[in-house]
Amino acid sequence: PQAHKAKINKAYESVGQRVKVNGWIHRIRNNKKLVFIVLRDGYGYLQAVLTGNLALAKQTQELTLESSVSLYGTVNKLPEGKSAPGGVELSVDYYEVVGWAPGGEDSFTNKVNENADPSLLLDQRHLALRGETLSSVMKVRALWMKYLRKFFENEGLTEVTPPCMVQTQVEGGSTLFKLNYYGEEAFLTQSSQLYLETCLASLGDVYCVQESFRAEKSHTRRHLSEYTHIESELAFIDFDDLLSHLEKLFVETVGYIMEDPVGGALVKQLNPDFKAPTYPFKRLDYKDALEWLNEHGVPNEDGQKFKFGDDIAEAAERKMVDTMGVPIFLTRFPAEIKSFYMPRCKDDPRVTESVDVLMPNVGEITGGSMRTWNETDLLEGYQREKIDHAPYYWYLDQRKYGSVPHGGYGLGTERILAWLCNRYTVRDCSLYPRFTGRCKP
Ligand code: 4AD
Ligand code: MG
Repeated sequence: PQAHKAKINKAYESVGQRVKVNGWIHRIRNNKKLVFIVLRDGYGYLQAVLTGNLALAKQTQELTLESSVSLYGTVNKLPEGKSAPGGVELSVDYYEVVGWAPGGEDSFTNKVNENADPSLLLDQRHLALRGETLSSVMKVRALWMKYLRKFFENEGLTEVTPPCMVQTQVEGGSTLFKLNYYGEEAFLTQSSQLYLETCLASLGDVYCVQESFRAEKSHTRRHLSEYTHIESELAFIDFDDLLSHLEKLFVETVGYIMEDPVGGALVKQLNPDFKAPTYPFKRLDYKDALEWLNEHGVPNEDGQKFKFGDDIAEAAERKMVDTMGVPIFLTRFPAEIKSFYMPRCKDDPRVTESVDVLMPNVGEITGGSMRTWNETDLLEGYQREKIDHAPYYWYLDQRKYGSVPHGGYGLGTERILAWLCNRYTVRDCSLYPRFTGRCKP
């Protein structure tokens, strides 16, 4: 019978039919007179069996690991007790090699060895991406983006695309990547927040999906030099509205992923102990966090007890969220450890209307705040941070022409993936990670 062309996920549903499946040889092994292949096409994995003369193909090195092939054959349901992806097996009656891959010295396995040094593996990232774990994380990543956009659409946000090349900082000058812009100094953007704020008056609530760049000196498991920053800005809200919005974002978006047949299965496979977030998130003020850390004997950066004004660094933050084991809204940070744009709390002007969302295993995955919306206070913020406000004339104008209370946040995509997929480092959650000393391939 004629074979119809099928992607692997469709082949699962073609029991009894003759199909042509294109893909790459993911695994291949001999068993006496049989050759078993696991074919991969980006849609799934398919077990295929070759018998008789066709089974000579492995010995003759015609079929090798990572060769691309077209397999023709009948899809059979596997009997009880035998398992394979989709519960089916392809009985191959004919095949074509499309792009042969070398065996021996130059074989794929020699290039991409899971036990190799991580930096060698990163040199071979273009090949390592063919691995099951990495490709699963990339699929969850795509679903995260898809369902986050669905959430934004439901909430009535409009997507915008701010510039990457800018002349202002958002999160401190020390991590700016400088570039020569036709002889003028410019930077790669650290955050699109300020630009999003300028959109509120004409577009309403907005969001963007944009790469952010940070020349991080710190070599940690959760810092990249380039990461996908999803930022959003909401008008006419107060701090409580901001927290409720964030809570809903995580509960609903993760809910969509877990209900997705592909997404749910991938997350369970990568992260069997994953607990989807539920309402309400635990709320913890910065000053109560310091108390918790001191009570639990967690020292600050200098090995001392925490005192007001100290940064809660990565290790301490993770210790806290891992012990509590639930998402945390860490709120009300002191003004001096936060950026110029954060407004002070009315009941305690030492602290700001700010929030970090902490998740187990990663710590901070989101940073957000209300924004100072009055010009005088904003100028005070620039002065405190010793930033020349001249280049920010356009940002200050937002305070001049019809200012409103507003706030927003930035989500670190790779950190969210590290949490969802239980990865040790954000480097495993980026297609081609950029960090200190790594800019290839
Ligand atoms: O906390 P950050 O620096 O906040 C901002 O940039 C705000 N302007 C965002 C806003 O309100 N629109 O960064 C936001 C998030 C962090 O919580 C973290 O998840 C991620 O971005 N992030 C990084 N991810 C990977 N590598 C880095 N070097 C990161 N720096 C921040
Ligand atoms: Mg932050």
